[in-house]
Amino acid sequence: MLTDNFNRVHDYLRISLTDKCNLRCTYCNPNDLEKGFFANKPRMTADEIDRIVSVFAGAGIKKIRLTGGEPLIRKDAKEIIQRLSKYPVELAITTNGVFIDEFIETFKEAGLRTVNVSLDSLQKEKYFSITQRDVFERVMKNIHLLLANDFHVKVNVVMIRGVNDNEILDFLNWTKELPVHVRFIEFMPFIGNKWNSEKVVTHQQILDIIASKYNFIKLLNEKNDTQKKYFVPDHKGSFAVISTMSDPFCSGCNRMRLTADGKMYNCLFAKTETDLLTSLRQEKNIKPLIEECVKGKFLMLGGNNEEENWGNQTCESHERSMISIGG
Ligand code: 5AD
Ligand code: SF4
Repeated sequence: MLTDNFNRVHDYLRISLTDKCNLRCTYCNPNDLEKGFFANKPRMTADEIDRIVSVFAGAGIKKIRLTGGEPLIRKDAKEIIQRLSKYPVELAITTNGVFIDEFIETFKEAGLRTVNVSLDSLQKEKYFSITQRDVFERVMKNIHLLLANDFHVKVNVVMIRGVNDNEILDFLNWTKELPVHVRFIEFMPFIGNKWNSEKVVTHQQILDIIASKYNFIKLLNEKNDTQKKYFVPDHKGSFAVISTMSDPFCSGCNRMRLTADGKMYNCLFAKTETDLLTSLRQEKNIKPLIEECVKGKFLMLGGNNEEENWGNQTCESHERSMISIGG
């Protein structure tokens, strides 16, 4: 088991398959990061991912989530999903939803049952202005395709004041007939994403807006939950808020991250990384590196809250963008 100095067991690995994406979400993958920013970085091959995962699996992890960038743009995404399905861990994926129709059989064969789809607006034009790509209808169709095939579908909505905070009630209304789990995510600062604290719509503000129209009930959280879950009686779906900014949830954290270039992060906000890929390529045993990385984890927020006033800091303090760490 991978336990840190605060007795937290780390059994959940999030793997970024690529830092590239077919969309250009303004808050995540801005155009000015496009040119060469991540170029020429070594990228884990399918075989290397498999070998690294075998070490994590040997250390007792229970869950793997594939993220990106957009994980499904990798030519070998199917192969990776198939290879990882042999481990006795729950496999999940976070995707922008564009290519799901091409992967639904692969998901089924791999026993992958939970799919998180990013969808920040229910309005086609606004979706276009956020993502800068005309794929709203395809993503919507794919959400319905997943539901028709009995997948558990979570929809990630990054809440940005002045952009989509006027759609909170529309999303709630959407869950009335559709069994999706909508997760409103507080906007987080990353390099180049023009974050400022005024754009954050907090957990409480989101609940206040919902309470103006709906009665809802709080669900019990599990220990490692990053989300606060709720449901409206009579609705087929449910909702949650991910309150990273206003109420960080570090005390139950069980997460580790692996970037597409094979660097391990013990926190989304960590300032240091552990290069697993280089050691793997040198045929070294990477297990001690993984253990050391977990042991070096700060109690909260990668230690950022100890130096700065969390929530007021500027995004420049993060050396990587969300897309390169993996969401
Ligand atoms: N703040 C909050 N959420 C973000 N995501 C990407 N960038 C940010 C940000 N700056 C979301 C994506 C995806 C999830 C993994 O993280 O929309 O749904
Ligand atoms: Fe875990 Fe870091 Fe996220 Fe806190 S901020 S929940 S420690 S990954």
